[in-house]
Amino acid sequence: MFEESARWYDALYSFKDYARESGEIISMLKQVHCKASTVLDVACGTAEHDKYLAEEYSVDGLDINADIASTKNPHGEYFCADMTDFTLAKTYDIVLCLFSSIGYVKKIDSLIEAFRCFGRHLNTDGIIVVEPWFTPDEWNPDCHVHLLTAETSEGKICRMNISEQEGSLAVVNFHYLVGTSAGVKHFTERHDSKDNGECFDLF
Ligand SMILES: C[S@@+](CC[C@H](N)C(=O)[O-])C[C@H]1O[C@@H](n2cnc3c(N)ncnc32)[C@H](O)[C@@H]1O
Repeated sequence: MFEESARWYDALYSFKDYARESGEIISMLKQVHCKASTVLDVACGTAEHDKYLAEEYSVDGLDINADIASTKNPHGEYFCADMTDFTLAKTYDIVLCLFSSIGYVKKIDSLIEAFRCFGRHLNTDGIIVVEPWFTPDEWNPDCHVHLLTAETSEGKICRMNISEQEGSLAVVNFHYLVGTSAGVKHFTERHDSKDNGECFDLF
């Protein structure tokens, strides 16, 4: 997961147009639920969508690693919790789960639990919006080497990976090279759809 790399997340994903995406989400939400005023962004990451969504809605966020949710949405509350098992004191008109984050729940049972949690936190007429994980035909193991580089005031980072498949599981092993004034460091992070229990059959 995004642990050691969390502080580089925004720089690495600077190519992603969060403003445009958020605008499209707002337009879609206005069509399907014009009276909505509150949003819970599940697996909010660094809260980059929330910065823009907060121009239209009162937005809170939740992530298993809420440390990376920044001060981009100062009026929002941020909760550190697992999307498959959370209870908040509030309910919302809209529950969002964006950028394929749902794939991290890994097991079909956990997927059901996640949707139960989302549902329990909805107001009457509320809606759940989930951006899905890759479809099998979109996942091309070993076909491409993916490379991202970024530079911040802290230093430079390079991330490289290929798409992998282990049985029915989509797997990404990210390799990072980070250079700062403290030196150059290499670390890896594994992202997969696997758990010790029954797995969500992606393929
Ligand atoms: C690809 S990032 C997406 C972040 C953000 N939604 C965005 O669009 O930039 C996936 C996020 O899911 C979070 N995550 C993974 N498993 C989770 C879980 N079980 N419960 C809550 N958050 C989880 C990670 O910490 C990470 O922030």
